[in-house]
Amino acid sequence: MNAETVRTQLKSLNLTTAARELDEVLARNRSAASLDWVSELLEREIDTRRERALQRRIAQAEFPELKTLEAFNWAFNPKIDRTKIEELAGLDFVRQRRIALFLGHAGTGKTHLGLAIGLQAVREGLKVYCASLKKLIQEIKMARAKQHLDALFRKILSAQLWIIDDWCVVSIEREVAEEIFDLLDRRKLSSAMILTSNRDVEEWGAVFADPILANAAIDRMFEQAEIVVFQGKSYRLKDRIVLPSLQPDGKLGQEREPKARRGRA
Ligand SMILES: Nc1ncnc2c1ncn2[C@@H]1O[C@H](COP(=O)(O)OP(=O)(O)OP(=O)(O)O)[C@@H](O)[C@H]1O
Ligand SMILES: [Mg+2]
Repeated sequence: MNAETVRTQLKSLNLTTAARELDEVLARNRSAASLDWVSELLEREIDTRRERALQRRIAQAEFPELKTLEAFNWAFNPKIDRTKIEELAGLDFVRQRRIALFLGHAGTGKTHLGLAIGLQAVREGLKVYCASLKKLIQEIKMARAKQHLDALFRKILSAQLWIIDDWCVVSIEREVAEEIFDLLDRRKLSSAMILTSNRDVEEWGAVFADPILANAAIDRMFEQAEIVVFQGKSYRLKDRIVLPSLQPDGKLGQEREPKARRGRA
């Protein structure tokens, strides 16, 4: 084990004095200079700290569920652009602070893939803010009431990637809309964003108190966005397909009871 490895490990643990003085201490203790065990010990500390930091970032992101790209069945809805999603998962769009819009039918995996890209970002050391639009509205209202809006905006703006789920599925009051547009405007300098919606873009303005103003703002905001269209059938209904069962004599029997609908309504 050479001293350079140990010095790198000490630096990665921010043990700057130990890193600086390693050579001198080694020179004075030449006879006991096997560094293998020291390095192994430091590696354990580094691994533990890395894991803790990852868990902290996962907790901060407030993902409703941990989803992965590996768990996504691409054969189920083959029209979903896998290449585009994998390109987004490379995270260049995050570094460029761009917007990705996941638009399309319910249950086709928009939230799943948004969360999976979020988890990928967190694994690569980035900070993520994840909320449904409904939750964001609640957070803004609560922060306004407690006069903590600045702190909330600082927290959100400190994340390099935002995942805003279910965009424009709830109506938005005028005061909250102003805050949301302000936040989205400030995002340009700090963060990338994935936004999911199963509503047609033409319907977005209607959820705002002033649809005309909202449409103009939305138009400007999303001009440069990457768009992924989710076409296909709902994965939520996958296990509810009712099939007639065959009797031993080959005749059609009674239809099976559909299983209870899982997940959200
Ligand atoms: N192709 C798929 N492979 C594996 N799981 C999937 C797939 N598509 C969807 N799912 C799962 O189905 C459920 C519904 O998907 P998801 O919530 O991502 O849909 P959505 O497009 O966001 O729908 P909505 O528009 O209603 O919000 C989730 O549990 C998700 O993990
Ligand atoms: Mg969703």
